[in-house]
Amino acid sequence: VLNKVRKLFSPELMSSGFPRALEIGAGTGYFGLNLKLAGLIDELVCTDISPGMVDVLNQHAAQLGLSNVSATRADAEALPFADKSFDLVMGHAVLHHLPDLAQSFREFHRVLRPGGRILFAGEPSRIGDRIARYPKRAAGKLGPYWRRAVRASPPPAHAPAGSAEEHDHSLEAFVDIHAFVPSDLEKIAEGAGFDPVSVRGEELLANWFGWFNRVLESHADPQDVPMLWRKYAFHGYLLLQRVDRRALEPTLPPSIFYNLLLTAQRPTP
Ligand SMILES: C[S@@+](CC[C@H](N)C(=O)[O-])C[C@H]1O[C@@H](n2cnc3c(N)ncnc32)[C@H](O)[C@@H]1O
Repeated sequence: VLNKVRKLFSPELMSSGFPRALEIGAGTGYFGLNLKLAGLIDELVCTDISPGMVDVLNQHAAQLGLSNVSATRADAEALPFADKSFDLVMGHAVLHHLPDLAQSFREFHRVLRPGGRILFAGEPSRIGDRIARYPKRAAGKLGPYWRRAVRASPPPAHAPAGSAEEHDHSLEAFVDIHAFVPSDLEKIAEGAGFDPVSVRGEELLANWFGWFNRVLESHADPQDVPMLWRKYAFHGYLLLQRVDRRALEPTLPPSIFYNLLLTAQRPTP
């Protein structure tokens, strides 16, 4: 999580940190709680539209022994907070779920103090997603041969029709509302009054490698996937993440990466 933030914020900003941060669509706390643990934030206010997520997040914060963390149910389009009351508004994998992005960004701008920042990571890239279909398709064709090579049994039967799992998958198309090109995010942020605005791309080779392996593995019973293969997939992914971070992300256009990262500032008067 900290590596994502380092891609967007200067070393000075990372060391000064943020006195008060608001997380949008915080889910079970993966993003904000890790940043709080890393010491980047003093007071963390987490929000999510789902009361169930808010309960789980509160439990996680208590299990981690974190103080100065609260979680509240709130819709990103109507935030129940005072104007200019946060130094940072952030989120991970949430913007693509928000129906009215222009209204949500106006709310982010309203609750930020002048000079404050927004940071959003893990947003789906429309072109990056299309490119990732090629390794997925290739692995789909090679999967049966790979399974025989590692001597694995076929996977257990899929979720039965009408089961809760099948219902969850069928809802994905309704909740994943947007996929972005960088200029979409830039225009929305600028339209709400942010300046400057910056969008970066994240994960290319690591993502292709990850999808290729995941689709291969979906052809086998998870219990039969050999440990040596798991180590290769895990360490290979980490190695390619480093190649992406050091060589590709600073040079190639953001639009071809799998995820987009956005940061912007509320200007000072
Ligand atoms: C893909 S999850 C990401 C959760 C978490 N940020 C993470 O990365 O693990 C998206 C989250 O956004 C929340 N969400 C969806 N629409 C929302 C809205 N209008 N306002 C606030 N949260 C919303 C969902 O309830 C869900 O917890």
